[in-house]
Amino acid sequence: MSSAWTPGDPGTLSDGRTRAAFRDDFLWGTATAAYQIEGSPDADGKGPSIWDTFSHTPGKTANGETGDVACDHYRRMPEDVELMAALGVNAYRFSVSWSRVQPAGSGAVEPRGLDFYERLVDALLERGIAPALTLYHWDLPQALEDEGGWLVRDTAYRFADYAGIVAERLGDRVHTWITINEAVVVSTFGYALGTNAPGKLLLFDSFPATHHVLLAHGLGTAAVRAATPGASVGITHNLSPVLPLTDSAEDAAAAVSLDAIQNRTYMEPCLLGSYPALEDVRVPVDRACVLDGDLDVIAAPIDMIGINYYNPTTVKAPGEGNPFPFEIVPMLDFEQTDMGWPVVPGGLRDVLVQQKVLYGDALPPVMVTENGVAFPDTLVEQPTPHVDDPRRVDFLRAHFAAVGEAIDAGVDVRGFFVWSFLDNFEWAEGYRPRFGIVYTDYDTQRRIPKQSYAWLRSFLRGDA
Ligand code: FCB
Repeated sequence: MSSAWTPGDPGTLSDGRTRAAFRDDFLWGTATAAYQIEGSPDADGKGPSIWDTFSHTPGKTANGETGDVACDHYRRMPEDVELMAALGVNAYRFSVSWSRVQPAGSGAVEPRGLDFYERLVDALLERGIAPALTLYHWDLPQALEDEGGWLVRDTAYRFADYAGIVAERLGDRVHTWITINEAVVVSTFGYALGTNAPGKLLLFDSFPATHHVLLAHGLGTAAVRAATPGASVGITHNLSPVLPLTDSAEDAAAAVSLDAIQNRTYMEPCLLGSYPALEDVRVPVDRACVLDGDLDVIAAPIDMIGINYYNPTTVKAPGEGNPFPFEIVPMLDFEQTDMGWPVVPGGLRDVLVQQKVLYGDALPPVMVTENGVAFPDTLVEQPTPHVDDPRRVDFLRAHFAAVGEAIDAGVDVRGFFVWSFLDNFEWAEGYRPRFGIVYTDYDTQRRIPKQSYAWLRSFLRGDA
C-alpha cells in the first residue's frame, strides 16, 4: 500500500491523530550514532575504536565498507543542525564517541573531541532543540578492547570515568543522558555471534560482556549524577516482543527462552535488580562474574528508560541439532523492510503496554529512542532532486499512532526519536540500507530531504 500523502496534505497519523493529541512537552526528534555519521576517524586527536578496527578487517562488513567518511557529519555538523531546525523537531538524540574524548579509553582527555560535542550542543540549543546524549553507542576505544573489552570488569569503571568527564563538560546544557545503547546488541552481536565489533564468537560464554555493560550503566549513571545533579539519566534497551508460532507448550517454552535472553536479561537487572531465572533462559550461562552488590548498582533508580523498537520475533521449538532452545521463524506475511524485518506497528503498542504490565510502578517514564525503517530509496534529479518514500511515511504514521494507543492504555511515554535523521553507515550491512528521512548522496555528500521529512515537518507543525 502506498501513501496518498503529498506535501500540503495534513500531517496526521494513520488514525487521524495530530501532534495535539500528545503532551506539549513530548520530545519529537530524530536519532543518530557517532560512528554511523561522523567520519573523520583521526581528526583532532581521536583514537581508534573497535568499529574502526572491525570495519577495516577484510570480510567483516558488506563490500568492505567503513565509517571513514560516512556522512562527513564531523565537518558538516552546522548544516545538519540547520536541516534539523527546518524540520521543526524539539529534540535530537546523538552519541558521543568515547575515543574522541579519551583516545586511549582511559587517562588523557582530548579537549578538541569534547569541543566538537560542545559546539553541537550549543548549535542545537540555539535552535530550541533539546540534546539527548547517548554516551555509548557501540564504539569502544580499541585500547580497552585490547585489555579484554566488555569481557573484563575494569571496562565498566573506565566507562564511569568517561561518563563523568563528558557530564562535567556538558552537564550544564544537556538534560537527557542515556548511558548505553542496546546492551543486548553489544553483547549478542559483538561477543556471542561476532557479527559486530569486536567480532568475538563466544556464544553463551559472552555473558560477562552483558553483565559488565549493565554494570557500566549503573556506575555511569552515578557518575553523571555526581557531575550534574538534576540530569535525567536512563538507559536504552532494544525490545522485540516474542511470539510463539503456535499455542503448543513447546513453542511457548521457546518464546519464554528468547524473551528471557533478549529482553528480560536487560530490563530486569535495571528495573528489578535481578536476572531472569535460568529455567526461563534455558541456555547454559555462568553468572560467576556477578559480584555482591553489582545488581544494586545496576538497579539504582533511573529517570527514564529508552526503548528501541523495530519488529517482533516469532519463534518455534528448535529442530534436531539446534543448540538453541528456540528457532526463529520469518514473518513473511508482513511487509518486509530492506533489512528483512517485518513491518508490525501494533508491536510497538504491545511492547510498551507489556512493559507497564510487567514492571508496573518500577517502569520509569519511557522514550521511544529509536524506531524507523530502511527501504530502497531512489534519488530522482529532475525537475529538482527529490526522494519519494511513501512507505516510510506510512510506517511513521502508523508507529506514531501506536505510541498514542500505548499512552491511551496508561503508558507514560515522553518522547519519540525517528531512526534516522540521515541515511548512514548501517554497521556490518554498510551503506545499502537507507534509514534516513534525509537522503545522503554519498558521492557528493548532498543532503536531500525525503518525502518523509516533509510529512514529519507537517506533523510537527500540527497541520490538520
Ligand atoms: C539499532 C541501532 C542503530 C541502527 C538501527 C537500525 O539497533 O541502535 O544504530 O543500526 O538499529
